[in-house]
Amino acid sequence: MAADRRTWENVDDYLDRTLGLGDPVLDAVLKAGDDAGLPQIAVSAAAGEFLALLAGLVGARRILEIGTLAGYSAICMARALPADGRLVTLEYDPRHAEVARDNIAAAGLADRVEVRVGPALESLPLLQREQQDPFDLVFIDADKVNSGNYVRWALELGHVGTLVVVDNVVRNGGVADTGSTDPAIRGTQEALELIGAEPRLRGTVLQTVGSKGYDGVALAVIGE
Ligand SMILES: C[S@@+](CC[C@H](N)C(=O)[O-])C[C@H]1O[C@@H](n2cnc3c(N)ncnc32)[C@H](O)[C@@H]1O
Repeated sequence: MAADRRTWENVDDYLDRTLGLGDPVLDAVLKAGDDAGLPQIAVSAAAGEFLALLAGLVGARRILEIGTLAGYSAICMARALPADGRLVTLEYDPRHAEVARDNIAAAGLADRVEVRVGPALESLPLLQREQQDPFDLVFIDADKVNSGNYVRWALELGHVGTLVVVDNVVRNGGVADTGSTDPAIRGTQEALELIGAEPRLRGTVLQTVGSKGYDGVALAVIGE
């Protein structure tokens, strides 16, 4: 069978059905985003479950997300938190944040998820000044031009053992174009170069295909 985009979508549909991925609450999140005219760039159901598994595996009590959109991935991860856990998600666009807040409330997670509005590079220093406990998991999924900056912030706001996840790092293969002038590719390369060069980080990338096309996710752990 040819491994083309249609095949990847068929396999995602099959996996959703077979593994029981997605549910009415998550479907409603996507519908609310569509109805509000938000872009269809949330993680897939399979990727959302992957994030939830990661949150559970690291025993996350505090999660930082950069890039909320309608709250799909935030809800997936927040469901893996203990009752007294907290997820802070940063969103630039007030309209996206409003839709996300409604979705998070409808998912019954308003008590543990906080949506902060503004450019993440302004919200992150504010978070640091509040001197809250460090985050156990940081999910980076916002403006790709700043992915390197966000990995740097993850080092500031995490602890030894924090898992840093960076989405969309393969970009249909574009990441391998070292001469690229595309800001999103340059920002992604910066994030990966930092993971490779920073002695406190150990990480790798999984290339992915699916309903969202050909892409990949970086996973890095903060060490001593
Ligand atoms: C790919 S979407 C996030 C998808 C979401 N993580 C999910 O899977 O459900 C990226 C989001 O980042 C937001 N964003 C873009 N630039 C930003 C910035 N500088 N600071 C905070 N959020 C930003 C966009 O408005 C958009 O809602």
